[in-house]
Amino acid sequence: MQTQHRVIFGSSQQMPELATGSVQLMVTSPPYPMIEMWDDLFAKADPKIAKLWRKLEAGCGEEAVAQIYDAMHCYLGEIWQETFRVLIDGGVACINIGDATRRLKGKFKLFPNHARVTEICEKIGFTALPYILWKKPTNKPSYKGKGAFLGSGFLPPNAYVTLDCEFILLFRKGNLRKFEPKDPKRYGSAFTKPQRDEWFSQIWTLKGTRQTENEMERRTAAFPDEIAERLIRMFSIEGDVVLDPFLGSGTTIKAAIGYGRNSVGYELDSNFLSIINQKTANSGKGAVVQIIKR
Ligand SMILES: C[S@@+](CC[C@H](N)C(=O)[O-])C[C@H]1O[C@@H](n2cnc3c(N)ncnc32)[C@H](O)[C@@H]1O
Repeated sequence: MQTQHRVIFGSSQQMPELATGSVQLMVTSPPYPMIEMWDDLFAKADPKIAKLWRKLEAGCGEEAVAQIYDAMHCYLGEIWQETFRVLIDGGVACINIGDATRRLKGKFKLFPNHARVTEICEKIGFTALPYILWKKPTNKPSYKGKGAFLGSGFLPPNAYVTLDCEFILLFRKGNLRKFEPKDPKRYGSAFTKPQRDEWFSQIWTLKGTRQTENEMERRTAAFPDEIAERLIRMFSIEGDVVLDPFLGSGTTIKAAIGYGRNSVGYELDSNFLSIINQKTANSGKGAVVQIIKR
């Protein structure tokens, strides 16, 4: 089956290329609020955030930190809202996100991103479903080793637990999807019993791309192919349209090609074009990939 794939270089805050109710599944991993590697992106996306960081530097502690965190989630929220519009009734949204810990102005703080995304998506109208915990076997405590809170050796009580799990949050828009009895595409998309037993259990132990992939993928914090592949096979059928509004290196499109789904990805940074081309070219199966620059 030939499938169609669109890579759109532009912001997914608005997705005018997609009609309302035209997408069956969203699989994505956004920039994580309060993780340092994404500070510049958020500050560029919303000048209010850049201003708040300056306010923090000038000494307005707690209040500015809370406002920065709110504004970052407000930015992501625009994309969850737009995703809700383009999904069909019964469509599923899968959001891979990690919590953050950070010491700001000498004070340690946890930013529970998974909880904030869940609250925002529920307000938009999504139904939250049981989520997956992605456990990375040898995850480093934080970006570039900064803010590693393992410091107290073997002495209680002041050490912090390492964040070595990320969340894969699952949401549904509206009702369960309906199919004709024995729908051939649905039956053609079935998984095996061992796959079902493993994929539908709550903890997935998988290596992150940091341990397996190249420099460009590290720069975009790509998730492993297997995450996108499992989610696509669990929550869509052949011929469906899969959306990734934070495409990065193109992992979701690669997985969609591999499993006979159509796809659309949005990415702000056109420097990822060559890695997206590489990933999608090798996935084969008669896929047509169109690159669109807004
Ligand atoms: C965590 S990375 C995604 C990595 C991806 N899952 C992969 O496997 O390569 C998040 C990406 O979202 C992009 N991004 C941030 N805001 C965006 C927006 N409004 N529209 C489109 N892309 C955006 C960033 O440039 C970054 O590449």
